[in-house]
Amino acid sequence: MVVPAGGLGTRFLPATKAMPKEMVPVGNRPSIQWGIEEAVASGIKRAVIVTAPGKELIKAHFAPDPGLEATLRRRGADDLAERVREISRLCQMEFVEQPEPLGLGHAVWCAAPHVRGEEAVGVMLPDDLFAGSPPLLGQLIDVYQKEGCTVLALRRCAKEAISRYGVAAVEGEGPVFRVLDVVEKPAPEDAPSDLALMGRYVLTPEVIAELETTSAGAGGEIQLTDAIRCLAPRGAVVGLEFTGRLLDVGTLESWLSTNAEIVWRDPELGPMLRSRIQELELEQA
Ligand code: UTP
Repeated sequence: MVVPAGGLGTRFLPATKAMPKEMVPVGNRPSIQWGIEEAVASGIKRAVIVTAPGKELIKAHFAPDPGLEATLRRRGADDLAERVREISRLCQMEFVEQPEPLGLGHAVWCAAPHVRGEEAVGVMLPDDLFAGSPPLLGQLIDVYQKEGCTVLALRRCAKEAISRYGVAAVEGEGPVFRVLDVVEKPAPEDAPSDLALMGRYVLTPEVIAELETTSAGAGGEIQLTDAIRCLAPRGAVVGLEFTGRLLDVGTLESWLSTNAEIVWRDPELGPMLRSRIQELELEQA
């Protein structure tokens, strides 16, 4: 699996000036850890994480830290020491640097030498957290196993928001659609459907090979969707309208909303959040 985490996180500045966007905590762990945990629950054993110069914290987070573990154990915090240890054992991890943020397609291409020879590769964007069951990447892998081609995650999207996404032109009844074309960030009137691409993919080696010659597209970035759309006319792409929800954490507003939801539902933190909100409401009254 490839986890692109080499972007600049400009929509979340200034919080993401020195802190990688993927390391901003949601509940008690960084958003990228949620993504890796979803992948592991989907059966993934190996992750290639694409980072960028200055984003060394991501690697540090997943590295073993025997010193910290020993200190925690000495202090009697064995549970915490175990949780710290588990982070470095979630799966096998490799790190690749994307020298410049040239786009999602370019980030995936940077990981290509590490996934060469694989039958297909999962791609997980860590700024969307999945809430639901079964895990989203696993849902796509199941479709891949039946269809044997590239699989996209599709979600219905309101017209006002559609131009933030790649949008699929599809045929079929769903929930698995044949994808005829993909348009990156269309104007609402040009969107071929209301099915937007979300941040999980299963890509065949043909898509990775296509990235080799994909030039910059929308926003001057090398777009993954441009490589995918080359294969769509050959009948080599399907999309799954998945079950469950994706929670965005790529902007301050979406991160706040996702954190509020995750903390609200947490058995330990939820009651604390609710009582604090009540206190604040009383103070305001
Ligand atoms: P986003 O567009 O959401 O992330 O890309 P970004 O570019 O970091 O954020 P903004 O738009 O400037 O606020 C989705 C994922 O793709 C990665 C990002 O790190 C994020 O996890 N990405 C994006 C790369 O790895 N490299 C890139 O060149 C662009």
